[in-house]
Amino acid sequence: MLKEKLAREALKYVQSGMVVGLGSGTTAREFIKALAGLKLDLTLVATSIDSELTAFEVGLGDRLRPMWAVDEIDLAVDGADEVTREGVLLKGRGGALTREKIVDYTAGRLVVLVEEEKVVDKIPKRNPIPVEVLPWAWRHVAREIVKTHGGSIRLRMGEGRVGPVVTDNGNFIIDWTPSGDVEPARLEDWLKSTPGVVDCGIFSKRRDAVILVARSGGEVYQLSRDS
Ligand code: A5P
Repeated sequence: MLKEKLAREALKYVQSGMVVGLGSGTTAREFIKALAGLKLDLTLVATSIDSELTAFEVGLGDRLRPMWAVDEIDLAVDGADEVTREGVLLKGRGGALTREKIVDYTAGRLVVLVEEEKVVDKIPKRNPIPVEVLPWAWRHVAREIVKTHGGSIRLRMGEGRVGPVVTDNGNFIIDWTPSGDVEPARLEDWLKSTPGVVDCGIFSKRRDAVILVARSGGEVYQLSRDS
């Protein structure tokens, strides 16, 4: 219900002729369903097979294009696992973080939809930091992270199959629980520069994102940076 409300609010940012990036996860799914009712001339870029499937299911399949086929993304609408007032996001519980980051960082405008309990004072709060890694290098990356920053790491295992989760890009995900506070921007840069890492769930570089928050009562407000 709250996700549907958030999705409807996000529709206000959509205009005919736009290239719209579709995030992934249960909230993004509601946004894709809501988009189908608009009957606008849109081009869509999905960040996961799951979002592609949803777009097909609601009749938007013919609007989908791969990232390489568009010149720019006008608007991206995505969910998140945790957000801070400073606009730092933690994402990737659904495993789509790499394509999400490409689309979210490229978009002219990024709109993030969350329920109020996902607003935190710092990340990570309740979730580990997901890191997408080349399968061949996963233990090496895990060792490097723990050696340099401490904490503990688990290889994300699949549900409905044996073995690890394999992302849409053919990679593994390791979930890292740091032992103490982290500095998100520096950590994001460090992870990106570590050989074997494809990307990570820290999104610290879109502090300009419009973050729409749903209260449990159903009211939706925009997160303000200075309160
Ligand atoms: C997908 O990899 C994630 O980044 C999701 O965007 C995030 O987990 C939010 O998902 P929900 O909308 O399902 O909470």
